Amino acid sequence: MAEEEFSVNVTINGTPMSLQVRRKWTLLYLVREVLGLTGTKYGCGTNDCGACKVLVDGKAVNSCVIPAKNLDGKCVVTIEGLQENGQLNILQQAFVDAGAIQCGFCTPGMIISATALLRENPDPSEEEIRKALDGNLCRCTGYVNIVKAVALAAERMKEQNHG
Ligand code: FES
Ligand code: FES
Repeated sequence: MAEEEFSVNVTINGTPMSLQVRRKWTLLYLVREVLGLTGTKYGCGTNDCGACKVLVDGKAVNSCVIPAKNLDGKCVVTIEGLQENGQLNILQQAFVDAGAIQCGFCTPGMIISATALLRENPDPSEEEIRKALDGNLCRCTGYVNIVKAVALAAERMKEQNHG
C-alpha cells in the first residue's frame, strides 16, 4: 500500500510552497533531506540538543520532533533564511567576531534561538541570554563566547537602530 501523503502549504524562508509530505517526516527531515537546507543540523533526534532549531511562526523549536504534516499554514525560517542580501546578518557576524564558533555544529541552532530572543527582547541580560540558549548544547566552547556574541549583536543592533 502506498504511504499516506498529506498536502501542506507552508512558507519556507519567505517562499510559499505546496508540498506533499509523509506521515513519518519530521520538519528536520523535510528541510534537510527533501529541500536540501543542510544548515539545520541533526544532533540527537530526540529533542535534547537544539542543533535542529528553526523558527516556526517566529518561535525557536526543535525541528526533529515536529511532524511535517502539522506545518500547514505555518511560516518556517531556517538558518539559510537569516542572511541578508547574501551576507551574514548582524547576529551571524557577531558569532564570527566573538569567536563563538569552534566546530560549528551547534551554531545554526544557537543563532536561531538567539534570533527569537532578540526579536522579543532586544536588550537581554546575560542571564536572559543563557536562559534563551538553555536548550542548545555546545560541546566545544563552554558557552562564554556564545553569550558574548549575542550581547555583541544586541549592542550592534541598538547602534544600527539609533544610527
Ligand atoms: S536534533 Fe533535534 S534536539 Fe537534537
Ligand atoms: S562549536 Fe562545536 S558544538 Fe558548539
